[in-house]
Amino acid sequence: MDIHTIVLAAGEGSRMKSNRAKVLQRIGGTSMLEKICFTAGSISPKITLVVGFNKDSVIKESKTYNLEISTADQPKPIGTGDAVKCGITKVEDGAKVLVLYGDVPLIKKETLEELINSSDDGLSILTTILEDPYGYGRVKKDDSGNALAIVEEKDASADEKKIKEIFTGVLCGQKELIDEGLAKLDNNNAAGEFYLTDLVSIISNKGFKIKTYNASNDEVKGANSKAELAQLEGIYRAMKAEELINKGVTVADPARLDIRGEVVAGKDCLIDVNVILEGNVTLGDNVHIGPNTILKNATIGNNSRIEAFSHLDSATVGEGCVIGPYARLREGSNIENSAKVGNFVETKNSTLGSGSKANHFTYLGDTEVGTSTNIGAGTITCNYDGTNKHKTTIGDESFIGSNTSLVAPVTVGSNSTVAAGSVITKDVPDGALGVGRSKQANKENWSKKKD
Ligand code: UD1
Ligand code: CA
Repeated sequence: MDIHTIVLAAGEGSRMKSNRAKVLQRIGGTSMLEKICFTAGSISPKITLVVGFNKDSVIKESKTYNLEISTADQPKPIGTGDAVKCGITKVEDGAKVLVLYGDVPLIKKETLEELINSSDDGLSILTTILEDPYGYGRVKKDDSGNALAIVEEKDASADEKKIKEIFTGVLCGQKELIDEGLAKLDNNNAAGEFYLTDLVSIISNKGFKIKTYNASNDEVKGANSKAELAQLEGIYRAMKAEELINKGVTVADPARLDIRGEVVAGKDCLIDVNVILEGNVTLGDNVHIGPNTILKNATIGNNSRIEAFSHLDSATVGEGCVIGPYARLREGSNIENSAKVGNFVETKNSTLGSGSKANHFTYLGDTEVGTSTNIGAGTITCNYDGTNKHKTTIGDESFIGSNTSLVAPVTVGSNSTVAAGSVITKDVPDGALGVGRSKQANKENWSKKKD
């Protein structure tokens, strides 16, 4: 059966106290909307986004997801029921409709699949039991456990407020049945809105049995305020750390690991505290990530160590390397097997060949270093002349003395040596010594005589 998902994203979210549309508030590095759209996309390619408040920015962002998302306008944010009414115009006859709220972003694909399967030809709603159900719609049920109605916080009696089973915002049902129900919605309630939740009493009054499917608390929490957003961030962090731990990674403290993307890890990896993994991060076997490090779009080979306070962005590290502490590998850094990058070394758009070392205070930009070469402390590639960038090439088994400036474009050959303190402006051939520094002169008996 065809499934068409409607994602509600038209509300202003005034409780966020922000100029941004609520669904664009971020958790774990991406917006709530992106998270829910990707989950929707994993269920079915048919997604309709209902937009209203700040719709231009919402549509603009949704276009970056690489999903085929159609949008439906909700002219005024007059309730979730009205929003679904706007969205359902895009749904094909005979399809099943899955409704998701853009501010309930952590729901799992498996949970949605269970809900969809339980909905048969009628309507199913996703609920959860909360110790503190304040603010959520309470689910009233008959003796056999079918839902009879959902009562919103603002409309609930003292007794209804005691109900701990709440509506999560997620429901699934036959398009025609939902359409029929939507036509009967009114706004005679405390908020003066067209509540989607009224569908339950309308459809149940028609004699349909409405099943409830129970989800775990965490994945269905919504965020209406910055306080709730911070709670979701914590839940998301714990979920992602747990995923990694279940794959066999040793995590020093799950509460101090932030995963803002997708991580693939081999066996026996260890992640120390205060680590941020962003974008696509791939770790081989036996990789050690030291404390206070940030890895964004990075690939680390087997048996490599990223030591404390290092920052890697769009970098590739081979096998058996040691990076840091305090190293910064920027875009296009490629550190080959058994190479070492030490403290206060910055690399950008550069390759450090296997077994080579740049251990202290160095900048390598637009540089190609061969194998088993030593880059001395304080070496700087002067790759930018103020207008253009130029390349530095250094061969194999060479030695660049400390405090050398390599003024690009320039090539230092293999088995070459550059004397410490040199400013190298001309190529150094293979096997040669390049010296580019002023000569030292000693003035004998120069010191003033002491009385
Ligand atoms: C809603 C439910 C409540 C449920 C809770 C779960 C209703 C009436 N209430 O309450 O039962 O427990 O979610 O988190 O549905 N939106 C629109 N157009 C509108 C209004 C809202 O697109 O006119 C969108 C919002 O952008 C948001 C979602 O619908 O993504 C939910 O709206 P919100 O106002 O946050 O509903 P809640 O008060 O949280
Ligand atoms: Ca909400």
